[in-house]
Amino acid sequence: MLNVEDIGISFGNHHVLKSLTFSVEKNEVLGVIGPNGSGKTVMLNILTGILRPTKGKIFFCGQDITTKNITERCRMGLGRTFQVPRPFEKMTVFENIVVGGVYSSQISEKEAKTRAMKIMQMTDLSNKGDWYAGKLGLLDRKRLEIARALAGNPKILLLDEVAGGLTDSEITDILTMVKGIKEKGISIIWIEHVLRTMSQGTDRVLCVSEGENVICDLPGLVMQSKKVHEVYLGAIEE
Ligand SMILES: Nc1ncnc2c1ncn2[C@@H]1O[C@H](COP(=O)(O)OP(=O)(O)OP(=O)(O)O)[C@@H](O)[C@H]1O
Ligand SMILES: [Mg+2]
Repeated sequence: MLNVEDIGISFGNHHVLKSLTFSVEKNEVLGVIGPNGSGKTVMLNILTGILRPTKGKIFFCGQDITTKNITERCRMGLGRTFQVPRPFEKMTVFENIVVGGVYSSQISEKEAKTRAMKIMQMTDLSNKGDWYAGKLGLLDRKRLEIARALAGNPKILLLDEVAGGLTDSEITDILTMVKGIKEKGISIIWIEHVLRTMSQGTDRVLCVSEGENVICDLPGLVMQSKKVHEVYLGAIEE
């Protein structure tokens, strides 16, 4: 589904991504871990077209998308959440999802409304459709962030730290939701520091450090990897 080949990016003399190569299969959840500042969000920004890599190529569903812009990629089926959620605070949950659908996949308002109802079910927001986004608690803001990304009908969903700051039982809710999204046939790249989500909610995990692949393997093997422990120096959150 997605092939990332040797991408790199520098800001001035700062080589944030040196060389990253990985792939995501259809219907797979790929977790991404790595220390703060290792380039995970930058990688996501390159995948969605916000940033242009200084080297490397990205293939999505067999097509080279390296030079395609944000809108083209979104319409091809790349959806994302932002590390800091950005809903329209003065719109309701339902309106936020409808707007997401109309803008990202060129569908009619009527279609977007039907889709929004389904997405609210998938993200456990059905009973909060008429709440203003600005009034939501943290878990529901995260749910809405995912719902807005789903509104574009993505083939692959890119999640940037949706479990951060949540309690243990809220994390269980997020894990259940992500599982449900995967079961709808959507592939997922999930960046996260909360390791329980990575060991329980992914098919494979990629560890990035200083802009390079450390390891990409089954979650259990990655969590036990000596290299991964060295990278984190024991500073990982459980
Ligand atoms: N647009 C930019 N211009 C210059 N430097 C940037 C830009 N975006 C990110 N960086 C730098 O790139 C490095 C990697 O940042 P990035 O946000 O990808 O880290 P991260 O792995 O997502 O970290 P965290 O786990 O804290 O979210 C940081 O040093 C950051 O300051
Ligand atoms: Mg980040």
